[in-house]
Amino acid sequence: PLPPPYQVPLPIPATLEPVAPGRYEIVQREASAEILPGVRTPLWTYGGTFPGPTIESRRGRQITVTHRNELPVPTVVHLHGGRTPAASDGYPTDLVLPAGWTGATAHAGHDTHAGHGMAGHGMQAGHGMKDARAVVTELTRDYTFPLDQRPTLLWYHDHRMDFTAPAIWRGLAGLHIVRDDAEEALGLPAGPRELPLMIADRAFAADGSLLYPSLDPTLRERPGVQEPYLAGVLGDVILVNGAPWPVHEVDAARYRLRVLNASNARHYELEAVTDDGRRLDLVQVGADQGLLAAPVTHRLLPIAPAERYDVVIDFSGVPVGSRVRLLNRLGTGRTRDVMAFRVARKAADDSRVPGVLSTDLPAWRRSDAVRVRDFAFRAGQLHGGRGWLVGGLPFDPARADVTTGLGDVEVWRLVADVHHPVHLHLVGFRVLSRSGRPPLPHDAGLKDTVSLRPGEAVEIITRFDGYRGRFLFHCHNAEHEDMAMMANLEIV
Ligand code: C2O
Ligand code: CU
Repeated sequence: PLPPPYQVPLPIPATLEPVAPGRYEIVQREASAEILPGVRTPLWTYGGTFPGPTIESRRGRQITVTHRNELPVPTVVHLHGGRTPAASDGYPTDLVLPAGWTGATAHAGHDTHAGHGMAGHGMQAGHGMKDARAVVTELTRDYTFPLDQRPTLLWYHDHRMDFTAPAIWRGLAGLHIVRDDAEEALGLPAGPRELPLMIADRAFAADGSLLYPSLDPTLRERPGVQEPYLAGVLGDVILVNGAPWPVHEVDAARYRLRVLNASNARHYELEAVTDDGRRLDLVQVGADQGLLAAPVTHRLLPIAPAERYDVVIDFSGVPVGSRVRLLNRLGTGRTRDVMAFRVARKAADDSRVPGVLSTDLPAWRRSDAVRVRDFAFRAGQLHGGRGWLVGGLPFDPARADVTTGLGDVEVWRLVADVHHPVHLHLVGFRVLSRSGRPPLPHDAGLKDTVSLRPGEAVEIITRFDGYRGRFLFHCHNAEHEDMAMMANLEIV
């Protein structure tokens, strides 16, 4: 029962109210929603909704979020893009256990997957979760976020070892916006003219339930997906803020779109097209880690899983009563449609897009780097089957893949076989080059996720500052991540 496109109103996720200044509580629980007309979809949620509630915070004002796990499986919360101490960063084995959990809290000492051509990493003796340091077993957990970072759109999502992809698919994702006075003083479109857009594809059964090809649909013991889905799981329904191909009524004015690709594996190339076939400019003002130095205008905006783009679109030249569709150039059939804006009325607009947006972007030079590292993101052998490896190795919580000094600047050269959106926890980085050529226009600014395209070699530069401890870097194709394309980043 798929709805026609551009009928369902765009939902805006509710803002989470603090229970006390700087303190929030989220209950992770099962819920259901009418996503497709006439049927209910069972979900795993943060606080009963998908997306979860949006947290609005101020730069440098620490908050604590208490998560209570009422789901049937362990969970882990990660604030993606957060500059967060390791203890609150959601390491994949720092579990929040559900009440009465009788399943494994450690991976069993046997490999149920050998020879099945499946993922199933992490199931072998000695693999990580036997490491007592890594196991945190609580029904609730306080996550503390200092938020000492550039204002931007972050998102929180599940990060449980081996089961991240199906948990996000079931609904464990929400937005978190960090703001500050300097950004607000710019005069960018605000209030009802600032729209968070969490784009995510899903597949549904006829009864409305979500389809996902897990080997173990309980997500209790056995990780992995069926063989045809090793490259990643795609859906044929495009949701924006949890609604299928929604429509939003707008004034003929500028809007600021805070776009997140929360899809497990789907890449998009977004374009905004008027009813008479004109393409509107997408004026990028921010990247994953906040404002650019100056706006960058796109007609076509590629967005890989976990990337965020902050773009201003101007509807003032669009005839009242007509639409602007946000289309996905990489889609076919119904995955070409994303959402639409219906221009409802003429309106005054005192917003602006200043020519200088920020002056605090780090300008690291190659000569600042104390080290250069190489990492290949490629398919490979994993416990007798096929998996995804970083530098030829599957994820192992017990191994430090990178050990670096707090404050060190490094250049990383990342090479890919197929598309891999590579994400570093804790730090923002800048893109230096793509296969020896200058970065692309959408690589501007400070990133925390970079899309490696098939066969490409991408150089990034960053400074590992913030906090000491154990963090991660990994592919954010969520299925690749679950199939071991993840590595430890130890800051000492
Ligand atoms: Cu969005 Cu390690 O995650
Ligand atoms: Cu990947």
